[in-house]
Amino acid sequence: MNPLLEIRNLAVAYGDVQALWDVSLNVEEGTIVSVLGANGAGKSTLMRTISGLMRPRSGEILFEGKVFSGKRPQQITAAGICHVPEGRGLFSQLTVQENLELGAYLPSVRGYFAQSLERVFELFPKLKERRHQQANSLSGGEQQMVAIGRAIMARPKLLILDEPSLGLSPIIVRQMFELIEALNRQGVTILIVEQNIRQALKIATRAYVLHTGRVAMEGRAEDLLANPEIQKAYMGTLD
Ligand SMILES: Nc1ncnc2c1ncn2[C@@H]1O[C@H](COP(=O)(O)OP(=O)(O)O)[C@@H](O)[C@H]1O
Ligand SMILES: [Mg+2]
Repeated sequence: MNPLLEIRNLAVAYGDVQALWDVSLNVEEGTIVSVLGANGAGKSTLMRTISGLMRPRSGEILFEGKVFSGKRPQQITAAGICHVPEGRGLFSQLTVQENLELGAYLPSVRGYFAQSLERVFELFPKLKERRHQQANSLSGGEQQMVAIGRAIMARPKLLILDEPSLGLSPIIVRQMFELIEALNRQGVTILIVEQNIRQALKIATRAYVLHTGRVAMEGRAEDLLANPEIQKAYMGTLD
């Protein structure tokens, strides 16, 4: 069987500055795949290229066995890839519910609107309480939940999360990872970028380590978690 997402020999550049070299990566359906690496390693660039916001210079992206590189972001979302960007991208003046509604703008998912909203409120009961509050009045953790909730409204097959734990307190980070696991158990395949290496490896099936735009290491998450090189380079004495 084909992987849900297959990336072959991807090269991506910003003008003359190349950010990714020869990156290959697979995401099997039903799994959680983590992409790790230092600041500037190219993680966000990779996610932006998958969701069509950047065009690869060379290489291929296949989703459900079909070539996707070169398609527009909206076509990619319609096919079932949803990207929660670094920094969340909420509309801060709109209410929680209005932000969630924007996630269901595609005609193909509009019919599921009520059902999807119920699903989001079940996962994040706090958002139900705060549905009529402006997004910018929420805590960082709640705003991240709105961003993920908005993505769920689009009924994705593949959910891309770029540093969802950034700026959140340790307790909220733990809750965030539990929610990501719960979503995965509901059948959503997840590609997650994290600097919270240990927790990202704990929930993942497989992981890739990017180093200056190249895949430096890849493997089963549990093997990487036990790998002394990874521990030394990325985990230090943190958590
Ligand atoms: N808009 C941009 N214009 C030019 N270079 C960029 C831009 N965004 C990122 N880069 C460069 O691309 C490289 C990878 O960045 P990025 O994908 O954001 O890394 P990460 O998400 O792993 O921190 C870095 O060297 C960064 O400086
Ligand atoms: Mg980034």
